[in-house]
Amino acid sequence: MELISEVGTSTATADSPYDARTRRSTLRRYLMCPPAHFDVTYSINPWMNPGKPTDQSIAMSQWQRIHDQLVELGHTVDLIPPLPGLPDMVFAANGATVYGNQALVARFRFPQRDAESAGYLDWFAAQGLSVRQATRENEGEGDYLAAGPWLLAGNGFRTDRRAHVETEEYFGRAVIGLTLVDDRFYHLDTALAALDERTVMYYPDAFTPGSQAILRELFPDAIIATSEDAEAFGLNAVSDGKHVLMPEGASNLTAQLRAAGFEPIGMDVSELLRAGGGVKCCTLELHDQVPGQ
Ligand code: ARG
Repeated sequence: MELISEVGTSTATADSPYDARTRRSTLRRYLMCPPAHFDVTYSINPWMNPGKPTDQSIAMSQWQRIHDQLVELGHTVDLIPPLPGLPDMVFAANGATVYGNQALVARFRFPQRDAESAGYLDWFAAQGLSVRQATRENEGEGDYLAAGPWLLAGNGFRTDRRAHVETEEYFGRAVIGLTLVDDRFYHLDTALAALDERTVMYYPDAFTPGSQAILRELFPDAIIATSEDAEAFGLNAVSDGKHVLMPEGASNLTAQLRAAGFEPIGMDVSELLRAGGGVKCCTLELHDQVPGQ
């Protein structure tokens, strides 16, 4: 597959080695869960309204397009079987954090999602991974995002700050704790996306002033989202280093991504959003695993 972007405006400066032609995609491995039991039967985030009907077949086709787009880009997508009675299991990002042969399975904040953990424990064990369930509330890649050597770790709504210590020790990766303050952006992956090893995009107002200062320090060249971008769930994105699959409608963010040499691909996630989820929520990256094997 094509690894180097040929189009786009150069954004390289004396200080920044990046320009549109140097964005590189690397092949990844992901885990997804078909929304066979998708519904909104309870409310655990402000986007969920159990009074409004949902359409499972629309959710399935929106999910399928995300899946097919990833496969078309050359990535490998594994599937975990959806379990009945668990309408949020489609949001596989929350199931675990995975590096190499180690999986740290979620301990969910709300009892409605509790039983998902058993499904993930079984699935990773069947793959031969060394697996353990987090001892504190920990919602997997919803709150842990890899950016270069760091593991950016959200807390404030779901993952317990004390869980960060366990995650850091388990993987031997430096955790940078970030505190979320706006309940519409209750997981880190709704407020920030890692685009490559050194580039992130985020919505500053979703974080405490202290966490904003940390982000400014670590990522001076970050792409900054507007409130409209964040409300369109534009930060709930999956990047392979070049292609950025993201909910459509975040027009400011899309323009900035193009100018920085990325290739944004807008996805319709209107039905999934009724549960407060978008592209990234549906996608758990199995880091350091060889695609296609
Ligand atoms: N309804 C789900 C919940 O509130 C949505 C999870 C979205 N997942 C994510 N990675 N942000 O738990």
